[in-house]
Amino acid sequence: MNLKDAYEFFDELDDLDHGGSTKSNKKVSKKRESKKLETDARLFVRAQEVAREFKFTYKAARFEEAWLLSSLEDIADHRWVSDVLRKVKAGKEASVYLCKAGAALPGAEFVVAKVYRPRTLRNLRNDGMYRAGRPDLDDEGRIVIDDGMQHAMQKKTDYGRELLHQSWIAYEFTSMQELYAAGADVPKPHAMSSNVIVMDFIGGDNVSAPTLSDVKLARSEARVLFERIMHNVDILLAHERIHGDLSAYNILYWDGDITLIDFPQVVSPKANRHAFEIFQRDVKRVCDYFVRQGVQADARNLAISLWTSHGYRATRDEDDDAS
Ligand SMILES: Nc1ncnc2c1ncn2[C@@H]1O[C@H](COP(=O)(O)OP(=O)(O)OP(=O)(O)O)[C@@H](O)[C@H]1O
Ligand SMILES: [Mg+2]
Repeated sequence: MNLKDAYEFFDELDDLDHGGSTKSNKKVSKKRESKKLETDARLFVRAQEVAREFKFTYKAARFEEAWLLSSLEDIADHRWVSDVLRKVKAGKEASVYLCKAGAALPGAEFVVAKVYRPRTLRNLRNDGMYRAGRPDLDDEGRIVIDDGMQHAMQKKTDYGRELLHQSWIAYEFTSMQELYAAGADVPKPHAMSSNVIVMDFIGGDNVSAPTLSDVKLARSEARVLFERIMHNVDILLAHERIHGDLSAYNILYWDGDITLIDFPQVVSPKANRHAFEIFQRDVKRVCDYFVRQGVQADARNLAISLWTSHGYRATRDEDDDAS
């Protein structure tokens, strides 16, 4: 594919993604758009080179291939994965792929690679609410202290956006590391690169675990799992974290056990001024699901008792920015 074709191809992909842009948007973003296409085309050409070294079983759709190859280059180089077998699911922010574990993970058969969509194509969720009071992290998961980097992020330059994207992913990875070490039910995280997180696969022979939202539980089992999830919520609080998007859609169910996933938006109960609100919403969404499974649960009281048991004040005080 020559450069011109690559430009058109990414154009097509973008239209596909955003359902076409409006006239006024077009005018405003034309310059930015062409810059982005240039970058994406370069990425595509690079991916073609990588493709010669790293081949996988999964037949990616045309638009997926360049992104997947360039995203996984580093991960494959480090032997975290040796093959991509199939796509498990395409989410709003990332697609998750079942992979064969590489030589760096002796003993493991499968892992998944959560590959984030390119920053420019990601459906940005309103991340301001989650980022409040949360220092940004670099590609090693360390707090960014460099003035230039901080400035770029504040100004939302291209470089700054790249850094913010990286920080979002780093929060997911470092939270999973800490929570896994604390005994929470999360997939074991193995590696992070600029666009990918490699973690344990939850599921069995060729079947990935469904999310709780797709499962109907017997009442007796529901009670036990509900308590297990609340135990996990408690571990998170003990490690100064609130999931921030917890619901039956972000909990996997396999072999009678639950696993919490999808952590990039985690917030600090101490530093985020919306923390209690976000926490209550998490607890309520879990309770809503379990009430439908026949469990008696009072979301409000439960949230307050968990929250206060960790010494936090159960208020919605806007000024309660304890950072
Ligand atoms: N470790 C895992 N093992 C098996 N399946 C997984 C794993 N992690 C994620 N999945 C699958 O991939 C889906 C998307 O993962 P995740 O929720 O982390 O990404 P997302 O892009 O934020 O998705 P969404 O926008 O749908 O919430 C999950 O609903 C689940 O079906
Ligand atoms: Mg999710």
